[in-house]
Order: sequence, then structure tokens, then C-alpha cells
Amino acid sequence: MRFDKIIEDIKEWLKFYSEIERETYLALSLKENNFEKLEILKEKVKNCKKCNLSSSRINPVFGEGNIEADLMFIGEAPGEEEDKRGRPFVGRAGQLLTKIILAMKLKREDVYITNVVKCRPPRNRDPKNDEISTCLGYLIEQIKIIKPKVIVTLGRIPAKVFIKSSQPITRLRGNFYDYQGIKLLPTYHPSYLIRNESNIKLKKEVWSDMKKVMAFLGLE
Ligand code: URA
Ligand code: SF4
Repeated sequence: MRFDKIIEDIKEWLKFYSEIERETYLALSLKENNFEKLEILKEKVKNCKKCNLSSSRINPVFGEGNIEADLMFIGEAPGEEEDKRGRPFVGRAGQLLTKIILAMKLKREDVYITNVVKCRPPRNRDPKNDEISTCLGYLIEQIKIIKPKVIVTLGRIPAKVFIKSSQPITRLRGNFYDYQGIKLLPTYHPSYLIRNESNIKLKKEVWSDMKKVMAFLGLE
């Protein structure tokens, strides 16, 4: 690894970590119990005004599911329905994600589901880089608390956050990467499958990706 690349990575990490205030770290470090740690973080997100998305959101969407999940899904950002209900993946894309989870012989309650950015970007535009980096500290803490065995990222944006590569999602998907000792596999976003409903190849690719995850988790 090149030296300037190492420096760049360190700077990036420092930026993420500086985004969660000292006070939150102290509060988290005092709690043994993961449920309590997640509740502290959830409360922080509920009151968060660290980026502009706080002014247009209805509800922040922290994430939900099994706090001891082996499998964590990470989407991009809440959409309209998620913003209204304060829950991740409850709109059309969410219905498809739920079907995918069931096809994997799991239930929604078995996995943990969240997003890179916790508040809805206006008119569902892509979250901006500064919004992503400001919010990312919350996601990093969620991962540290839940400690899943596998993370599945949905679509281009969360893949770009975790994998330092200029390759498009079409190339990245279906491969396992490493994030802090956790297997991370990018696949397409369910909204992309919905937008390209007649393209059977995309559905097959997602299913083949999920089979890899199932094999890794011993679900077959
Ligand atoms: N799309 C996402 O990326 N996340 C959601 O929670 C809903 C739709
Ligand atoms: Fe805070 Fe994240 Fe919401 Fe921005 S998107 S206000 S950083 S919770």
C-alpha cells in the first residue's frame, strides 16, 4: 500500500470518528449492554441536526432488527415511506427486500436493516458526500455493537462507502470484501431491480449473491 494512500485512509477514519462527539463515546463506553448502547445511539440520531437533511426530514430512520444478527443489510438513505414511518425499507423497495430475506430462509426480525444516511434526502436525491461522512459515525458504531458476520450493502452508494475502488457496482457485486474482519458483500439495490423489472438477469445475479451469503452463514 502506498504511503500517501495510508495517510489518506487515516485522515478519513479520523474524520468519521470526530463526527460523533466525545460525550457520545463516553456514554457508549460506560454501557456494557448492547441494547443500551444502541438506544443511546438511537436517541442521538433522533435529535441529530449535524447536517442539512435534519431540516427536511419528518423522522430519522435509525435502523431495526435483531441486535445479535449475523446478517446486516445496509441501504442508501430513507425514502418517502421510511421518512413517514421512521422505519427502514418499508416502501416498495422494502417489500422486495423482505421477500429476498424470506427467500434466504430468514425473517426480517432475524437480520438488522439500516442505511448509510439516517435522514431522507429531499425528493430522494443521492446523499451528498458531506452528508454521508457526517452521518457515517452512527453506522460505524451500529456495526461495532451488532458485530454481524456478514454485511450486505445494497446499491452503489453503500458499496462506495466501504470499498475503496473505482469499479462500478456491476463489477463489485457478488464478491466478498473485508470490513474490519467482517465479510462484506455488495449487491444491487432492490429499487434498481424494481426499475428494471423485465431484466431477469439482475434478479438472478442478486439471488446468486444471496446464495453466497447463505452458504457462508450455513443457511443452505
Ligand atoms: N431505499 C434505501 O436505500 N433505504 C431505505 O430504507 C428505503 C429505500
Ligand atoms: Fe444527523 Fe445523519 Fe440525519 Fe444528517 S442524516 S441530520 S448526520 S442523522
